[in-house]
Amino acid sequence: MSERHIETVCVRGAYRPESGQPRQIPIIQSTTFQYATSRDMAALFDLEASGYFYSRLQNPTCDIVAAKITALEGGTAGMLTSSGQAANFFALFNLANCGDHFVSASSIYGGTFNLFDVTMRKMGIEVTFVRPDCTEDELHAAFRPNTKALFGETVANPALTVLDIEQYARVAHAHGVPLVVDNTFPTPVMCRPIEWGADIVTHSTTKYMDGHGVAVGGAIVDAGRFDWMAHADKFPGLCTPDESYHGITYAEKFGQGGAFITKCTAQLMRDFGSTPSPQSAFYLNLGLESLHLRMPRHCENGQAVAEFLTTRPEVVAVHYCGLPSDPYYELGRKYLPHGSCGVVSFELKGGRAAAETFMRSLKLAAIETHVADAVTCCLNPATSTHRQLSDEQLAAAGVPAGLVRMSCGLESKEDLIADIAQALDAVR
Ligand SMILES: Cc1ncc(COP(=O)(O)O)c(C=O)c1O
Repeated sequence: MSERHIETVCVRGAYRPESGQPRQIPIIQSTTFQYATSRDMAALFDLEASGYFYSRLQNPTCDIVAAKITALEGGTAGMLTSSGQAANFFALFNLANCGDHFVSASSIYGGTFNLFDVTMRKMGIEVTFVRPDCTEDELHAAFRPNTKALFGETVANPALTVLDIEQYARVAHAHGVPLVVDNTFPTPVMCRPIEWGADIVTHSTTKYMDGHGVAVGGAIVDAGRFDWMAHADKFPGLCTPDESYHGITYAEKFGQGGAFITKCTAQLMRDFGSTPSPQSAFYLNLGLESLHLRMPRHCENGQAVAEFLTTRPEVVAVHYCGLPSDPYYELGRKYLPHGSCGVVSFELKGGRAAAETFMRSLKLAAIETHVADAVTCCLNPATSTHRQLSDEQLAAAGVPAGLVRMSCGLESKEDLIADIAQALDAVR
């Protein structure tokens, strides 16, 4: 973390214009960069000099925004990706090769679950899922000799479970692997996983960091603390020469603070090209400038809505770690003492039919697949994302038919509650 407070980093982090330069970060809308001699370019291609040559790998606008997110999370190096999906894929594929394995909490975003359980398996990388609140012994038991990482979400989408980051870090480190934490929902304003032992932090910046439903994006931040060379047998990609870069060994040349992100940029961005546009990075930065003001308001609205829902007879369960009745209340108090996020999920007594009536009756909350936005939005998985499943299948997947996920935006909490109240009246 820079020596400045997080509010200052949100507004001013990473960009220091000199006299006469623009106040706002410049959008360098250029695919390529020109050099005086081919020798100058060769030094860049050999990773002997730092600089830009092609925006598929790096772009100055994106790098300013990545540096701000890195400062917010308290890391040593960071990069932007074109989506949160790309961030999580890159973070793990930078560690695990075909034939390797990693462990993940099971309550994670459905798209990430699919990436791990289907697509990465096709690439020969195995995953073992564990209950997010499993015992430490169960967590140890999931590890194998070829395990390369442990993964979890600080506050899971949509289950809203809270990760015991210290416990996960302890177990990961006992097995000589890094802990990767997706910190999308709390953002560094509400929780900084690196302070609790996480080694790599990922984000879907599409959510609160952008905050206005404008640009899909992702980010990866390295805490710079994991000693790759001490576990060189596990991480040959970082600790042995990369022949595609003239035999550079990332951990030797770029050290603990820079090896992970340099390899991820130089190899994975080069080969997969999941890079954001400079224009999208510019929009993301506008979101970051007010993140410290928006997050407490999202949390305040989420808390008020969650408390209101517990008073209604139409609601059988409310999931929000700010409620003392929630199983994750104590973990929330430890890791998220000032609030978690604005997303609340609740179950309606009347199941699928009640959820349909409730959603149809809402006048303010928008029906969207999105979350973590200035505009309050909600979703009933049974009639949308999980539509193909029967009620029995939904129950088995831990998504009851009457479940509603509500992402509380920045409107007045009184208006949100009034809207929810009249929609619940229609369910009676
Ligand atoms: C926690 C979390 N991680 C990752 C993702 C994927 O991000 P994106 O949609 O930006 O690819 C999401 C998307 O909802 C998410 O909620």
